[in-house]
Amino acid sequence: MKIMESYDWKNLSFGYLKTEYNTRCNFTNGRWGELEISSSEYIPMHMAATSLHYGQAAFEGLKAFRGKDNRIRVFRLNENARRLQHSAIGIKMAVVPEDLFRKAVLTAVKLNEKYVPPYGTGASLYIRPLLVGTGAEVGVKPAKEFLFLVFVTPVGPYFKEGFKPVDIMVCRGYDRAAPLGTGRYKVGGNYAASLESLELAHQKGFSTTLYLDPKEKKYVDEAGPANFFGVKNNTYITPSSNSILPSITNMSLQQLSIDLGMKVECRPVEFDEVPSFEEVGACGTAAVITPIRKIIDPDTNKIYEFCCDGKPGPVSTKLYNKLISIQCGDEPDLHGWLEFAD
Ligand SMILES: Cc1ncc(COP(=O)(O)O)c(C=O)c1O
Repeated sequence: MKIMESYDWKNLSFGYLKTEYNTRCNFTNGRWGELEISSSEYIPMHMAATSLHYGQAAFEGLKAFRGKDNRIRVFRLNENARRLQHSAIGIKMAVVPEDLFRKAVLTAVKLNEKYVPPYGTGASLYIRPLLVGTGAEVGVKPAKEFLFLVFVTPVGPYFKEGFKPVDIMVCRGYDRAAPLGTGRYKVGGNYAASLESLELAHQKGFSTTLYLDPKEKKYVDEAGPANFFGVKNNTYITPSSNSILPSITNMSLQQLSIDLGMKVECRPVEFDEVPSFEEVGACGTAAVITPIRKIIDPDTNKIYEFCCDGKPGPVSTKLYNKLISIQCGDEPDLHGWLEFAD
């Protein structure tokens, strides 16, 4: 199949571009139906659907990459399937079986093959699985009916800087999740809770926010829509916290750090420890690795600076190159992270 010719692949932003098909499956009468293919961008939904009123909405984000060999690889699909299952259980929705998730994702990618960006452009096909309560309820309770849908859209880097260091702002006045809340699930409500602080950070010229733990504001949680990591003494250090999303990119970077002969620590990270890091970064499917140049703390007027001459640090660079080489098929997939969609 031919790749779309009219796109400026190298300059794509991280946004929605229409593709041709999405895949859908409905849960009714206690079971999942057949997977359907749709070319509509809209969902017919009851006005009392629980997703609209009570936030029964979870989603995923993963990517497909075109290799030099022109083959299309999807990265760690099974981990996204598992995380969506956790999110579903966390907010009382029907669980999507892994087989259904895989079929819906691979079919959506295959049908939109021509939108998978060419090798070497830095762009990829973002895959967005969505699970929402469609059943009508007026009292606060879970729906009995759900829709699982997968759409895809070609994207460039999440932060317009790409693999260049960004400045971020500590947000003590906002929490994206409560200590015993839904932060570890990928559910819509967490993102609604983050919008005001994100907008504030953008208005002040920062790429994103740095959230501290919602209980004590003593530990680092995560960096906007991405996990946080630091590097020191040949060790990759990343926060463990009940209120952050377990990032699949972070999980992969921990493995790659071990492969590169580094140590890995996944533990609570006090904000006071941050200045001792040699490099810090944000990581996620969309952010890949986004090195952090400065962390500004408006409440203490302190500025913490990282990166040499505004360039990404050596470890972040090594990890970034390793990750994207595996994703595109330039390096062997030693951990079985890729599935072909073609
Ligand atoms: C809040 C949040 N944290 C972390 C991540 C990174 O997770 P992953 O690497 O699985 O994309 C994301 C993005 O998906 C996110 O939205």
